[in-house]
Amino acid sequence: MSFDTTEHNRQRNCFDGVESVWLFGYGSLIYKVDFPFLDQRPATIEGWARRFWQGSHDHRGTPDAPGRVVTLIEAPNVCCKGMAYRVSPDVFAHLDVREKNGYLRFVTPMIFADGTREDGLVYIATEDNAAFLGPADDADIARQIAASEGPSGRNRDYLLNLATALRAMGDDDPHVFALESYLR
Ligand code: SIN
Repeated sequence: MSFDTTEHNRQRNCFDGVESVWLFGYGSLIYKVDFPFLDQRPATIEGWARRFWQGSHDHRGTPDAPGRVVTLIEAPNVCCKGMAYRVSPDVFAHLDVREKNGYLRFVTPMIFADGTREDGLVYIATEDNAAFLGPADDADIARQIAASEGPSGRNRDYLLNLATALRAMGDDDPHVFALESYLR
């Protein structure tokens, strides 16, 4: 698959007659909310783990020196906490460009804190995308993050902002917090 997934996503979901859609954010979409939303609620999805396994050529790194950002990896019995936003479908025109470096929109069941459930859309960078980097030692991932910078700023700020936001939501994500410790 090409680096730029904008067109793939445009063709992916039909929003005809739909007034609002839930979006599930688990990475920068938790702390960098540069889009309008109608409602916002913490939510959890089951069977997915957040991992710094996706390369970033356009936000927190460059094509020659990619940074690392999060994607979701299937993981039975693991939950991923994030933020759900109810948005107008036209918001995806902006988000598809923001998430264009390998992320595709998928439908996911979400569970809110009160136990109610809704389906939402989530951007996932799957293993077959050209920017996927995959696993590495925590120390190596942290070193790469410490050294990377791109048009959206320092890669370290992506990690630190995410760790701060997760802590504020009461989340305990061992992968993110271990990388944060290495970085600090
Ligand atoms: C997300 O935040 O939900 C997707 C990954 C990112 O933009 O950091």
